[in-house]
Amino acid sequence: MTTAGLKSTPGGALRGTVRAPGDKSISHRSMILGALATGTTTVEGLLEGADVLATAQAMRSFGARVEQEGVGRWRIEGQGGFVEPSDVVDCGNAGTGVRLIMGAAAGFPLCATFTGDNSLRGRPMGRVLDPLARMGATWLGRDKGRLPLTLKGGNLRGLNYTLPMASAQVKSAVLLAGLHAEGGVEVIEPEATRDHTERMLRAFGAEVIVEDKDGVRHIRLPAGQKLTGTHVAVPGDPSSAAFPLVAGLIVPGSEVTVEGVMLNELRTGLFTTLQEMGADLVISNVRESSGEQVGDITARYSPDMKGVVVPPERAPAMIDEYPILAVAAAFAEGPTVMRGIGEMRVKESDRIALTAAGLKACGVTVEEEPEGMTVVGTKRANHPVRGGGKVVTHGDHRIAMSHLILGMAAQEPVEIDEPGMIATSFPGFADLMRGLGGSIAEA
Ligand code: S3P
Repeated sequence: MTTAGLKSTPGGALRGTVRAPGDKSISHRSMILGALATGTTTVEGLLEGADVLATAQAMRSFGARVEQEGVGRWRIEGQGGFVEPSDVVDCGNAGTGVRLIMGAAAGFPLCATFTGDNSLRGRPMGRVLDPLARMGATWLGRDKGRLPLTLKGGNLRGLNYTLPMASAQVKSAVLLAGLHAEGGVEVIEPEATRDHTERMLRAFGAEVIVEDKDGVRHIRLPAGQKLTGTHVAVPGDPSSAAFPLVAGLIVPGSEVTVEGVMLNELRTGLFTTLQEMGADLVISNVRESSGEQVGDITARYSPDMKGVVVPPERAPAMIDEYPILAVAAAFAEGPTVMRGIGEMRVKESDRIALTAAGLKACGVTVEEEPEGMTVVGTKRANHPVRGGGKVVTHGDHRIAMSHLILGMAAQEPVEIDEPGMIATSFPGFADLMRGLGGSIAEA
């Protein structure tokens, strides 16, 4: 892992066509469902980032055979269930990985100890452990269910669970545990979150019943489901595509196309918001791939973007994208108001605090609220974004990439620490941006 920082420097226009790396959410799920299933699962387009590789390794420790067959091509021989791991399961930086794996593991009569890196060991696991405990799993861990913790599963009873926060990870953990619960499970989602687990469970042969009752989604997984290995084509990750696309919008003269981006409407809130701001963002060639819509997105330099109020109910569809939206907002005219985003504080870092601090270090006016932030675009005062900040990322990949993008369009270079963490979700980010004409170098 690189120890030096990275620095992005303002330069010429960005131009070209690239592919986004495979979607992180779908990549994790393909590994976990493949390991739970009976028979062979083949995956193409897997995100080979550190997070997903940690999940692949975890699946080996629960008994699956997991092998790489080529770039992005993987084969998983599922055993139809999990066996007890013989050592601690280290999920690295991956909240999605550990939370979904704990849900899946809870269904089996085994004992497993989970840990992760410094960031993951600081993140709340109680949100997953509470429903799992109600189903009959037991656990012993640090204060507030922080990792490392040991989980004992098996003999689960069914559960009817209303999500206390908009979290696809919690929903997915309950559904995966529900595969082996007496009586099945029902998850009620007051706010719809990404539905990749539901879709993929169906692709593996499970019956998932989704009903909309007065705008509230009820997701039911009847008891006695069997998963059978299948083929998964992983679409491009909209959360990663966001970085070169926003760069295209804010670097003068640019035109950037990202191909094969997943367009699941529970993930595309950022693109909607950017279009509302007046961004020249065009989606074309929309097609279907492995049960998801994908398309190509072209971003052209958009000097006339205006600040907007982002509807709080859109938050689950763009929760990982607020840091890069905040960067786009810095180049717009007037304030962009983001509320209902308290969940950002419990991601890989406190992303509200770090986005606000990073932008302020680059000369942007930001007001932080407990569950929101407002970025005042510098165009209002008719001056360019200064840049020049040294940004502390606390090992958060999205904070790192967002500020590197800012540095390409600002007046002065921007430096970030801990660039090695970018590989958790976007291996090759710096090379891809250089290929488009961006300037990123060791600081
Ligand atoms: C994810 C869900 C989101 C998101 C994370 C991936 C998933 O987390 O932030 O990067 O794959 O289910 P929450 O479910 O905690 O909101």
